[in-house]
Parts: sequence; structure tokens; C-alpha cells
Amino acid sequence: MTEQTKMDKIISLCKRRGFVFPACEIYGGFANSYSYGPYGSELKKNIKDLWWKMFVRDREDIVGIDGPILLHPKVWEASGHTTGFNDALVDCKSCKKRFRADHLIEEALKFDLEGKIDEMTAALRENKVKCPACGKSDWTDVRTFNLMFATKMNNVSGEADESVYLRPETAGAIFIDFKNVVDSMRVKIPFGIAQIGKAFRNEIIAGNFIFRLREFEQMEIEYFISPEENWESLFEDWLNKQENFVKMIGAKEDDIRRSEHSAEKLSHYSKKTVDIQYNFPFGFQELYGLAHRGDFDLTAHSEASGEKLEYFDQENNKRFVPHVLEPTFGVDRSVLVALLSAYSEEEVNGETRVVMHFPKNIAPVQIAILPLSKKAELSAVSREIFEKLKERFVCEYDETQSIGKRYRRQDEIGTPYCLTIDFDSLEDNAVTVRDRDTMEQERIKVGELESYLVEKFK
Ligand code: GAP
Repeated sequence: MTEQTKMDKIISLCKRRGFVFPACEIYGGFANSYSYGPYGSELKKNIKDLWWKMFVRDREDIVGIDGPILLHPKVWEASGHTTGFNDALVDCKSCKKRFRADHLIEEALKFDLEGKIDEMTAALRENKVKCPACGKSDWTDVRTFNLMFATKMNNVSGEADESVYLRPETAGAIFIDFKNVVDSMRVKIPFGIAQIGKAFRNEIIAGNFIFRLREFEQMEIEYFISPEENWESLFEDWLNKQENFVKMIGAKEDDIRRSEHSAEKLSHYSKKTVDIQYNFPFGFQELYGLAHRGDFDLTAHSEASGEKLEYFDQENNKRFVPHVLEPTFGVDRSVLVALLSAYSEEEVNGETRVVMHFPKNIAPVQIAILPLSKKAELSAVSREIFEKLKERFVCEYDETQSIGKRYRRQDEIGTPYCLTIDFDSLEDNAVTVRDRDTMEQERIKVGELESYLVEKFK
């Protein structure tokens, strides 16, 4: 199976089985916009819950917040987004298609001119780079394009309005709540503030399914450290934790690699930035990132707001502006990795079985309860089992279609265990438990089911 076919198959499965739908289909679609369906939203929630447990609840040094999407415009002026959060765009004069100039150059000429607008225009013209859509080489000048989505507040017609922006990253809200967290939570350096939420970017070219969206979710941590901290070892530790998280959602070791930003690509305030890349069907691309941002953000917000954003170290009687390490994780890209890593096609008795081998703790449905038929005696026992197990597990009850079709459906959803209740169950008080991965079936007494399954999900 070629990589592109695999992506097409996953997109088709996502629609067929209720993971991800193209948005606004009844209105002819809305470019590069998607809706998470019933199983996709469970999968996404499980990934976010796993992250929150691992990085917030299980750690004494990290607290969570849930900040607003609309922040004061001064936040984005201070952080540099209003003037500097730009991409380079260029239009083909011949077919009128629009592209990211740096991506065109990187693909055609294999060098990176990110941020160098004039050089990009020259490189496209001098090297006669061809338009990927029409094959001509007739480019406009490269222009910068701000990626922030602006909207209006109190938008009454005729009144002067002030533009506000939908946040382009969740990190902004974390920095401006730094003082509130320090004052209210008795946190001790090193400590982190975490947040999960939506971010919006007016990407010139979105695409590759849910890889590059204009509306997406991030899981971010700002980890505040002393300027004297041995940051290199902490940095390495965070990279390991990020890689570990990718593996926990199903990625194989060989599909993950690190890519450090070169000195020219590094922001002036950053000591080091490393991307965690994943081997997507369209090549190794950024999945997560880790950046040492120094004291840039706290200092910039302090200067712009007039508020001191400092930390007082009582033990050493020292006051300082902390430095920050920023591990950032994309939610939608994580969902895509979980889908790609889980997908498999297996030959069983001359037929192809499509299975999503999700790690059990992120599977959208954990247990399917499948009475062999709709007969009242079977439904009564099955419903009783369903009512009991759903207190502890995510369960689905399904009594329609043949058992073979129901197994196939649960395999495609990625349900780790199917319980079949048949007429023997009424005699021996036991059910058949089918394992998604091995397809092995075991007969388990109803009274022992819960402890048996608890063990399986450990
Ligand atoms: N606060 C740092 C920050 O926002 P970023 O590398 O621009 O850094 C972080 O974004 C993560 O957010 C990326 O690694 C990626 O997983 C995700 N992300 C960024 N842009 C995205 C987009 N247009 N669609 C989907 N996910 C995106």
C-alpha cells in the first residue's frame, strides 16, 4: 500500500465510521475545515485527557489554566505577533493560484529562505521555479501575510471598532496569567503552567487532512526555570517526555525523529528549538516542538503592561524574571498520528480485515456488548452486563446485523474487546470475549467479567 493510498483509506474510514467529517458538506463544503464525529471526538478527548493526566494531574510542579480565545490586542503587540507572525505568500500570475513562497523554494531548490522576502522573489525568478499547478514561471513579488484572524468587538454598524484577534497559539494566555498563578498557587520554581485549547491561523495553504488547519487545538506548557538552572538537561528531559507521549498514542519508534532549528532559523531570543517530527504519508513533518524562549515573553509583557512579572525565590532571597522552556503539542496532529499508527489491513480467510489497533486507553470505545440476536432473553442479560460495565468502561451496545459484520465494524472503530452473549450464556452464565488484536476468543463467567477486563486495560 503506498503512503498516499493509506492516507486516502484513512480519510475514507474516518468519514464512514464517524471519526472525522468534512465540514459544512450540505453547503458544498468549507475548505480544509473538519468536524470530529462521535468516535473522533472520543479519540481526541482521550488524547487530551491522557496529556492532562500525564502533564498536569500527575505532576506537582505543573498547574493548568483555561484562558480566553480573545485577548487584549496589546498581548499580541507585545509578543510580536501583530507585526511578525507572518508567512511569505506569492501568486502565480498565470493560473492565479496562491502559495507559500518558502515552501515552494524549499521543495524546488532545496534551500531555506524563511523570513527573507526579497531574496525569495529573486530566487523564484532567477531559478525559473515552476508553478506546481500550471507549470508556468510567472510570479508576483513575494509579500508577507499576517496569520492572525481578526474580528471586531461591539460590532455595531457605523461605530468605530477595534480589531481583536483570535489567539494564534494558546501560550499567550499563559504568560499573561503568570502573575495570577504565582500569587494564588504557591508554586515553586521550576514550575509549569499548562493549557489545552483552540488556536486559529489564517494559513495560506491548509491541507493534508487534519495536519494543517486554520482552526486547531494545542496542548502547551510554559515551564518556568531559574536563569541559572542547568537548562540543557531539562531540555533533554522534555524532549524524551514528548517522544514518550507520541509513543503512548501509538507511534512506532522509527516514525519519530528530532530536528533542531539551525542558528539562522532560530528566533533571536531562543537558545534552542527542536521539532519532534513524525513520518506522515507526505514525509517527516513537525508534530510537536520544544523551545527555550529565555525571558523574552515575560519581559515583553512586563514592559508593555507596566506590571512586574517576576518570581521571588525565598530560599535564596532573590528576585528574577524566570526563563521558560515551551513544550508544545498539536492535538489534531496527535489524532492524525493515532489514526495513521493504528491502521492495518490483515488477510483473514481470504478477506481483508481493516483494524484500528489504537492503544487501549485511547480507543473511542473500549468494550462492545453484542448479543447474538435481538431475542428478549438475550437482551435482558446483555443490558444488565452493559449497565454494569459502562460505570467503569466506555461501552457500546449493538444488537443489529450479523455478528460478523458487527465484529468488522468494531475492528474498524478500534474497540479492544467485544463481548458476545449467546444462548449458551443463559445456561453457563458466561460470555465470549474477543480480542481485537489476536481475534482470540475466551469464555468468561459474567461474575468475573469486570475484574478480567480491569486486568486487560492495565
Ligand atoms: N507556542 C508555540 C507554537 O505555537 P508552533 O510550532 O507554531 O508553536 C505548535 O505550533 C504546534 O501546534 C505544532 O507543533 C503543531 O502540532 C500545531 N500546529 C501549528 N499550526 C497548526 C495548524 N495550522 N494546523 C494544525 N496544527 C498546527
